[in-house]
Amino acid sequence: MEKKKVVCVIGTRPEAIKMAPVVIALQKQGHFDVRILATGQHAAMLDQVLDFFKLTADRNLHIMKERQTLDYITASVLTGAGEYFDDERPSAVLVHGDTTTTFAAGLAAFYRGIPVGHVEAGLRSWNMRLPFPEEMNRVLIDKIVTWGFAPTALAADNLRKEGMPESAVSITGNTVIDALFYTVAAQKKPDCPELRALPEKAPFLLVTAHRRESWGKPLEDICRALISITEAHPELWMVIPMHKNPAVREIIHKYLDGREQVILCDPLDYQDFVWAMNASKFILSDSGGVQEEASAIRKPVLILRDVTERPEAVERGSGILVGVNREKITENAMRLLNDPEAIPAIEKKCCSQPFGDGTASLKIAEILKESLQN
Ligand code: UD1
Ligand code: UDP
Repeated sequence: MEKKKVVCVIGTRPEAIKMAPVVIALQKQGHFDVRILATGQHAAMLDQVLDFFKLTADRNLHIMKERQTLDYITASVLTGAGEYFDDERPSAVLVHGDTTTTFAAGLAAFYRGIPVGHVEAGLRSWNMRLPFPEEMNRVLIDKIVTWGFAPTALAADNLRKEGMPESAVSITGNTVIDALFYTVAAQKKPDCPELRALPEKAPFLLVTAHRRESWGKPLEDICRALISITEAHPELWMVIPMHKNPAVREIIHKYLDGREQVILCDPLDYQDFVWAMNASKFILSDSGGVQEEASAIRKPVLILRDVTERPEAVERGSGILVGVNREKITENAMRLLNDPEAIPAIEKKCCSQPFGDGTASLKIAEILKESLQN
């Protein structure tokens, strides 16, 4: 008998990192004909991840263009994914997280009556504009999915509160922990030239910032805070893997170019980034995935956002919400740098729970198998 087809959709770097373990689990399970649809919302940053996990997209829509608008991404993904689903007629489509790829591809499947599974469902900031447009994407997609794979109990409660039927909700853990375990198992010293520029045992902070709502002044304030921190601590290095987005890079270059101990580099391969998270003193980031990973590898993270949809890390004290205010960022970083007790105290509070135990993808594969049995 022909196997039922399941299409896993990915568009951006974090979707690829967090969907890769699901694809691998489904392939190993052997029950389905597993296909990867890449929308190409990201180009190089997506290919980097697929290479690392040794996965190849069955179709890539290659939609990315420089400074793309939300309208453009939505329209291209909706049309392109729709055509792919018409060609392949899958029994289920899986989308991940909260990007425009997630929402538009999920919508294309819904229009065709194809059941949609949402990996990392139920995260909420309860503010439609923070993060933007991610909160809207994840709220809307959860109205039309058949399976809501919630990473935590809190996320599952959010889905129930919004009326998702109990039969659709499951708590699986976050697949980012599966990806992290896979990567840590393969860990080696980084060989990229940017990280090799770091002197052996040099203390450094790892910084990433890319969010749409931070473009402009908030990102400028983040850069000003970084300058204050390096000037107060001349022994310190910084590693800043810059998102490919020119709107982000222009600002970072404007403020931080020409500082010998500030390494501005291209996005790191996932494995090198995990090495850098581990080796850093602490992390400053506005990334969603990094908040989860930092907690799992016991590294404090200053969260460069005003609100987070991942309150679990903040409640445990491993993540500190510092917003995009220059003084607040500087003050919190100084506390971690100046008080020798501060970092060990936070590291003690970190753990992979509540984000998962590394078996989220297996659980998702099992649920799909049971649901699509006949
Ligand atoms: C997107 C997601 C965001 C997610 C982030 C992960 C939306 C609206 N945003 O934001 O939720 O957190 O990805 O990184 O879905 N670019 C390149 N090469 C690449 C990738 C991007 O040059 O490989 C540049 C292009 O100029 C592109 C721009 O970055 O137009 C912005 O990419 P886009 O996907 O629109 O937004 P992100 O900020 O990456
Ligand atoms: N990441 C990476 N290389 C980098 C920066 C980040 O591999 O140079 C990984 C990181 O470990 C995390 C994911 O990319 O798993 C986060 O992606 P991003 O910050 O782009 O998106 P978000 O999580 O905010 O949606």
